[in-house]
Amino acid sequence: MPGDRQRIYLIGAGYIAREHALAIPMLPNGATVELAVADPDPAALASFTERFPGTRAVADAEELLAEPARPDDIVIVATPPFLHRDLTIRALASGRHVLCEKPLAMDVGEAEAMVAAARGARRSLADCSSRFLGLPTTSMVREIVAAGDLGPLTQVTFVHRVHRFRTGIDFMPGSTWFLDSRRSGGGVLMDWGCYDLTTLIDLLRPVRVDVATAWSVNPETALDLPPGVVFDTDQQIGASLVFHRADGSRVPVIYERAAATHGGERQIVEIEGLRGAVRWDWLDWVGDGRVTVTTDRDGQPAESTHHPGRPVAAAHQRPLLAFAARLRGEPSESIVDGQALFSFRCLRALQDAATTGQPRSVESGDS
Ligand SMILES: NC(=O)c1ccc[n+]([C@@H]2O[C@H](COP(=O)([O-])OP(=O)(O)OC[C@H]3O[C@@H](n4cnc5c(N)ncnc54)[C@H](O)[C@@H]3O)[C@@H](O)[C@H]2O)c1
Repeated sequence: MPGDRQRIYLIGAGYIAREHALAIPMLPNGATVELAVADPDPAALASFTERFPGTRAVADAEELLAEPARPDDIVIVATPPFLHRDLTIRALASGRHVLCEKPLAMDVGEAEAMVAAARGARRSLADCSSRFLGLPTTSMVREIVAAGDLGPLTQVTFVHRVHRFRTGIDFMPGSTWFLDSRRSGGGVLMDWGCYDLTTLIDLLRPVRVDVATAWSVNPETALDLPPGVVFDTDQQIGASLVFHRADGSRVPVIYERAAATHGGERQIVEIEGLRGAVRWDWLDWVGDGRVTVTTDRDGQPAESTHHPGRPVAAAHQRPLLAFAARLRGEPSESIVDGQALFSFRCLRALQDAATTGQPRSVESGDS
């Protein structure tokens, strides 16, 4: 209805819900958005409304979703993953667009049901694995790859290993659900791999992704977990993948992600081709926002360094800003519906290959 204020409904009032709320003033209509939040935990609700006074707060999301929808309503599902499917499907059925936190779902069946619900309701479903798309560094690399400057691509290395950064232990120790596969869907891969795969897919535009081999482990360390906490998730994963591109080329990808390792810390994201290579700082807070291109000049290696600028909005604010832009019909890094499903299928294929020791393949056309 003309004149109605846009409404944003947050389901879950924990850590990431606050980050989404901080994005609202950055929306073009941010000053007039009506914010509501639902969380069964009274302490989480009280702490949220103390930080964001004026927010309508309820214990049960159903109280919000039962209200008649307006065309531009957005629901943000910001709960642990085991609740994503049911809350997302309910929110879509209520006639609202949904931005769902990552990982999109627990398994492929859930993700398929969510995307089918979005299509059936003619609403958009975005997932937050796009959080690191559109950074000035990665956008520059995307242009370099798309222009063919590197020649035929030969190999991609995506390695991010840190000694101790397990969510639920070293970071956010109060949210131990991250450690329990029945609530989180998995360990470091579900937590971080979703960003890695969405970024790789965005850069390489594969029509098919093969997981040739994969392994995952949970490095042993001293632990001081509260009694009764389930910790059955792997915190280090490695894989050898092949990205098949529309032009028939195949790009091998060496992948590793560790939130705990006894080996050395390493962070390298690099694309190599026959005529050059590019490596870059792909996270907001890693390095100084650098893109390094190496080529050959008269038989000698030549390196050029670029600083394409810092992102305008911080990582946790970007998914809502991008989704809202997409809903307004503007260019956007948001990934929705089939794109989100394809990325999640690749994520799950990697996890399943690591668990079973068997290779997996995902075709983009299936999503
Ligand atoms: N913590 C991070 O750094 C981070 C970053 C990006 C994305 N995420 C993702 O955001 C989601 C939430 O993570 P978080 O870090 O905010 O967790 P959190 O533990 O801080 O908060 C989760 C909240 O969900 C609430 N909740 C549980 N059941 C609910 C229900 N039925 N209805 C409404 N609320 C309910 C809990 O009471 C809790 O307040 C996860 O999917 C996570 O992967 C987290």
